[in-house]
Amino acid sequence: METRPFGKTGESFPILSFGGQRIVDDHDCTEEEAIEIVNTAIDRGIRYFDTAWIYSQGQAETRLGKVVKHRRSEMWIATKAWDTTRDGALRQLEESLGRLQTDYVDEWRLHNVWDYVRLHAFTAEGGALHAALQAREEGMVRYISISSHTDPQILVEALKRFPFDSALIALSALDHFILSFAEEFLPKANAEGVATIGMKVLGLGSLTHDVERSLRYAFGLPVSTVVVGMESMAQLEQNLAIAESFEPLTDAERLAFFSDIIPLVQPVKMPWKAADWNQPTQWASRDRGR
Ligand SMILES: NC(=O)c1ccc[n+]([C@@H]2O[C@H](COP(=O)([O-])OP(=O)(O)OC[C@H]3O[C@@H](n4cnc5c(N)ncnc54)[C@H](OP(=O)(O)O)[C@@H]3O)[C@@H](O)[C@H]2O)c1
Repeated sequence: METRPFGKTGESFPILSFGGQRIVDDHDCTEEEAIEIVNTAIDRGIRYFDTAWIYSQGQAETRLGKVVKHRRSEMWIATKAWDTTRDGALRQLEESLGRLQTDYVDEWRLHNVWDYVRLHAFTAEGGALHAALQAREEGMVRYISISSHTDPQILVEALKRFPFDSALIALSALDHFILSFAEEFLPKANAEGVATIGMKVLGLGSLTHDVERSLRYAFGLPVSTVVVGMESMAQLEQNLAIAESFEPLTDAERLAFFSDIIPLVQPVKMPWKAADWNQPTQWASRDRGR
C-alpha cells in the first residue's frame, strides 16, 4: 500500500487507516469480531487507528484496547476529547487511557468542532486545549489534533489560534460540492505542514453503493491518510484491495463519478453538513454562532 508522510511528525502511514467507531454492538459487531478485524488490519499493514472517548459509551475504545494491550508498538492511536473544558477533558483522557490499556496516545483531538462557539470553548482559558498542552507536557499525549466535518473555515480559524499537528476532516466526494475541506482547508494545512486525515469518505453509508470510486477519489486528494469506518472482515478486505491497487481517478472518471452522485448532495444524505446533526433539514450556516 502507498504510504505518505504524516505532517511534521516524521511518521508515514499507508493511505488506508482504520476508523474505530463501528467495531461495537450498535453496529452488529461482536467483541470477538472486533478483535479479529483489528488484528487482521495490523497484519495487513494498517497502522493508524482512530477512536474517541464518546463512541458507544466507551465500547469502541475498550475493544480497541484489547488489541492495544498486546500490540501497542505496532499501532498509532488517536482518540478524542468531547468535553470542551480543561478539567472535563482531562477526566475523559484518563478514562480513554484506561480503556485503551496504554499510558499514552499518539494523538489527542478536540472532537467535532461544528461551530465557532465550540471552537471558542475548546481554545479559551480553561478549555480543553489547555488540557492537551498539559497532557503533552506530562507524556500522556504526543500530538495535538482537531476534527470537524461541517465548515472548513472553522478549522482555518483554529489554525490561526494554535499550531495543531493534525486535523481530521470530512473528505467524501459529496463534500466536494459544499463547504469543501478539500478546496478550502487542505491547501492551507499542507502549506503549514499540518497532517490531514480524511473521513466520511463513504458518506456515512450514502456512498456504499460505490466503494471503489469513493475510496479512489479520497486517496487521490493531497491528504496524509484516510480513515474508513469498518465493521466486518468483508469490508476490511474490500477496502484493503482498493487501497493496495490504488490508482487515482482520471479526470474523466472523476467527472463521471461526480455526475452520478450529484443527486445525493442534499442535507438528508449528508447529515454531517447540516446545521443540526439530528435534524438534517438545512445546510450549516457560515456565520452560525460567531
Ligand atoms: N468528528 C469526528 O471526529 C468523527 C465523526 C465521525 C466519525 N469519525 C471517525 O471516522 C471514521 C469513519 O467513519 P465515518 O463516520 O467517516 O463513516 P464512513 O467511513 O463514511 O462510513 C463507514 C461505513 O461505511 C460502510 N462501509 C465501510 N466499508 C465498506 C465496504 N467496503 N462496503 C460497503 N460498506 C462499507 C459501513 O457501514 P454499513 O455496513 O453500516 O453500511 C461503515 O460503517 C469513524 O470510524 C471514526 O473513527 C470521526
